[in-house]
Amino acid sequence: MRILKSDIMDKIIVLDFGSQYSHLICRRIREFSVYSELVPYNISLEELKKMNPTGIVFSGGPASVYNKDSPQPTNGIFEIGLPVLGICYGHQLIVNKFGGKVRRSHKEYGSSLLSIDNNSDLLAGMGQSTRAWMSHGDAAESLPEGFKVIGHTENSFAAAIANKQKMVYGIQFHPEVVHTENGVQVLKNFVLDICKAKQDWTLENFIESTVSDISKIDGDVLCGISGGVDSTVAAVLIQKAIGNRLKCVFVDNGLLRMNEEVEVENMFENNFGMNFTAINAKERFLTRLKGITDPEQKRMIVGEEFVKVFTEFAEKNGPFKWLGQGTLYPDVIESGVSKGPAAVIKTHHNVGGLPSWLNLQVLEPLRFLYKDEVRKVGKILGVPDKLLNRHPFPGPGLAVRIMGEVTPEKLQIAKQASKIVESELESSGWYHKVWQAYAAVGDDRAVGVVGDERKYGHVVLVRIVDSIDAMTADWTRLPSEILERISNRITNEVEDVAWVSYVISSKPPATIEPQ
Ligand code: XMP
Repeated sequence: MRILKSDIMDKIIVLDFGSQYSHLICRRIREFSVYSELVPYNISLEELKKMNPTGIVFSGGPASVYNKDSPQPTNGIFEIGLPVLGICYGHQLIVNKFGGKVRRSHKEYGSSLLSIDNNSDLLAGMGQSTRAWMSHGDAAESLPEGFKVIGHTENSFAAAIANKQKMVYGIQFHPEVVHTENGVQVLKNFVLDICKAKQDWTLENFIESTVSDISKIDGDVLCGISGGVDSTVAAVLIQKAIGNRLKCVFVDNGLLRMNEEVEVENMFENNFGMNFTAINAKERFLTRLKGITDPEQKRMIVGEEFVKVFTEFAEKNGPFKWLGQGTLYPDVIESGVSKGPAAVIKTHHNVGGLPSWLNLQVLEPLRFLYKDEVRKVGKILGVPDKLLNRHPFPGPGLAVRIMGEVTPEKLQIAKQASKIVESELESSGWYHKVWQAYAAVGDDRAVGVVGDERKYGHVVLVRIVDSIDAMTADWTRLPSEILERISNRITNEVEDVAWVSYVISSKPPATIEPQ
């Protein structure tokens, strides 16, 4: 269900040509309260017009405009009469489309000095020069008629161009990344001054219009609660609209963090007054995982079992018409430009695969929001900070943090050791500075000395990472005293652990979870 009434708001449509920064353009624009959506670059003219945009941005992308299969926007896009801003590849597309020349040039990666030749209009308020982030191998060689250079760098004579009359602009640099000084000013100049967009995107408005839309649906809604931010905020929003016609289920699969099941149940029972059922399915999951060592098979089993438990609940408590889900915006978009094999490295599990006879329509109230916006919505709706700011946790839970077979012994080690990692980060003020932090465990054993005896115990892997969006991650340079305390506590307090190891692989080539 498309819930957001974006047709009544001013909006900037970003055409995604495959840049890693495409989403960032939308996020930056939303930060100054103008709604922005990312769409595939090949959206048809008809669909685009239906969205009723206030302005259009072409994102960057990895292609070269002179290659014969290079992604192109729909014909007629410049004839709609809307302002267009091309960024990097988008800039080159504009040069090419209007009859200029683009060629392979000096590669320019990283920060360059952008000299401003005309600081009115798109580059207003940018002074004489500024640092701008470049990431390109092609550049404009000659400009089309009607375009003027408004900024240049040492290697790009036309790093910023404008055709004021047609309201078409191109910039070789990336204003959306933090490395471009004042990049947001360029986006503001385009969106607010050139497109004249109204700043009417607020999360209070979002809540009001979403609740009003959901309140019009008929039938009951079934919602799976994981204890994480997304499903919780989605459920609270739906409940605000339809009250007890929403039924929430929380499945305790025995693979959760220490005490998490109790915390989630308490929170739902004490806070939101929801129709909430917790199902203890520990035995079922752990029995099915017995003897299974293959990571993908473990993920599959957890997914399948979840669907079974969920379906049984739906059969007994239905009929339901809707399935509520906490899907976020970055998961919704398919750019149409191949993103390579990254998406299939691991099968992520959510509530897909429900039997079709349940006949549920999907209700995804957060499908137009980014994670930081979801947190803000949660805050406005009174979701406790502890839940809003807790680190992400994978759907298959500890099954992916336990290497080899999931056994009660290894589960206990992973839970206790992770709790120590979390509590040490909390007490030293590091918990909210890092993206994720946990301890994993496998079958490997190392030698330790207990009293005067040599004893073999498990090796625990502590993983703490910094990340913006989990697409890439780096290991956290934690002060060694904190690491030392974590290690001492784990070997002293957790039964049967001899060694603690700190994982210093970044993503890529590693991933955040071990399996
Ligand atoms: P990786 O390990 O792929 O993880 O670098 C990236 C982010 O995704 C989380 N993750 C999952 N989340 N279901 C989820 O809901 C899953 O199957 C799953 N696997 C990984 C992981 O915790 C990290 O934040």
